[in-house]
Amino acid sequence: MGVDISVRIGKLKLKNPVMVASGTFGYAEEFKSFLSLKDLGAIVTKTITLMPRLGNLPPRTCETPCGMLNSIGLQNPGLEAFLREKTGFLKKIKVPVIMSIASEGGPQEFVELARRLDKVDAISALELNISCPNIAGQKSLISQSAGATYKVVSSVRKSTSKTLITKLSPNVTCISEIARAAEDAGSDALALINTLSGMSIDIRSRRPKLAAVTAGLSGPAIRPVAVKMVWECYNKVSIPIIGMGGIMDLESAIEFFLAGATAVSIGTGNFVNPSLSSEVISGLKRYMARNRISNIKDLTGEVLI
Ligand SMILES: Cc1cc2nc3c(=O)[nH]c(=O)nc-3n(C[C@H](O)[C@H](O)[C@H](O)COP(=O)(O)O)c2cc1C
Repeated sequence: MGVDISVRIGKLKLKNPVMVASGTFGYAEEFKSFLSLKDLGAIVTKTITLMPRLGNLPPRTCETPCGMLNSIGLQNPGLEAFLREKTGFLKKIKVPVIMSIASEGGPQEFVELARRLDKVDAISALELNISCPNIAGQKSLISQSAGATYKVVSSVRKSTSKTLITKLSPNVTCISEIARAAEDAGSDALALINTLSGMSIDIRSRRPKLAAVTAGLSGPAIRPVAVKMVWECYNKVSIPIIGMGGIMDLESAIEFFLAGATAVSIGTGNFVNPSLSSEVISGLKRYMARNRISNIKDLTGEVLI
């Protein structure tokens, strides 16, 4: 039985709904010997800021029960070096590249980045990272306020014709309120979730395990939180949702579709099994054929409640 697993995210038509999450796949070249990159639905880059960033001091990752903490702090080469050094390879893969961007200052930096990227062919879409919990000195996240989310997304919307994806934080009381603000402001899709705030302590030294003290929790430990948030937002918005948080196999990917995701993104799973995204794509086709599901759209939001 032939199955159709292509999906639309704004103006993007993806041949399949499986992408790799920002910050867990470098700029793709790092993974070229582990899987056939051209088979991916889309590639999301590590978040890029206008100026280069060294990120936080080490140690900045540690394992936790069923997951990991990271406090990378948006280490990246900055916009100019990214365009000069990374886009050549990304272009050759012929897979839509979603560029994740963040601001170190105010909302104006998002606008500046979007404006400068609008005519860059190598980039198919922008993902606004308004949800990184690992920036020193940051009092709150943009995505912790519906008003601030609306303001940033609507300003960026006016500066780009590219597909706009807004990445939300789970560190909020009501995520669907923020999702609605992003939709009302013109976001074409939502990516959820970013990491949950967490902390781990070494009981021998009595010191935090990571230099930044607090960090972002990811991996299977956060999956039930992520699935619930996708489901909650699916019931409140009409734009597509890219679901992520602890996808480690085909079954966990399908959970996200049933909760309401149009596409899924694999993050921490790439560190455990670098070819996981390829395996999920082929597994999805087999699962659909076996269950006589001809179109992936017939899985989205189909949880029985
Ligand atoms: C080491 C690491 C670095 C990350 N860096 C970024 C980043 O630069 N930008 C971003 O939006 N999310 C970043 N994330 C969050 C992931 O993209 C993803 O939203 C989160 O980890 C949940 O998915 P997972 O449980 O499958 O990893 C990072 C996650 C990890 C583990």
